[in-house]
Amino acid sequence: MLLTRIDHVAIAVHDLEAAIDYHRRAFGAEVHHREVVDSDGVEEALLGVGGSFIQLTTPTRSDSPIAVFLERRGEGIHHIGYRVDNCAAALASVVAAGGRAIDEEPRPGSRGTTVAFVHPRGSFGTLIELVEDSA
Ligand code: CO
Repeated sequence: MLLTRIDHVAIAVHDLEAAIDYHRRAFGAEVHHREVVDSDGVEEALLGVGGSFIQLTTPTRSDSPIAVFLERRGEGIHHIGYRVDNCAAALASVVAAGGRAIDEEPRPGSRGTTVAFVHPRGSFGTLIELVEDSA
């Protein structure tokens, strides 16, 4: 089994502050980490849930994939992050099983992680992010 836990569930939102405030009031959820990821054109806030996270994510520019998603689909679940011990090995296994890599090679993600995305087409309509946390 290559997956060690659900790392995060990512939710695309228009207003990050409003989404953080809602999760605080509704669930008592606190922001564990917040980061602008320039390469992806997003700002994200991670809310701790046990050893996993809810990742609220909003675009920082109009050509961001999250901006395109919000325009087409509206707010909602964008992807699932699966924690793995070795991102490159997990990606190779996915491709060998017929999955479609979006990232041909693992690349830096937020929090100092190493990540690779797998296309929803071939993964039952679900955008998957493989997350290796070397910390
Ligand atoms: Co993610």
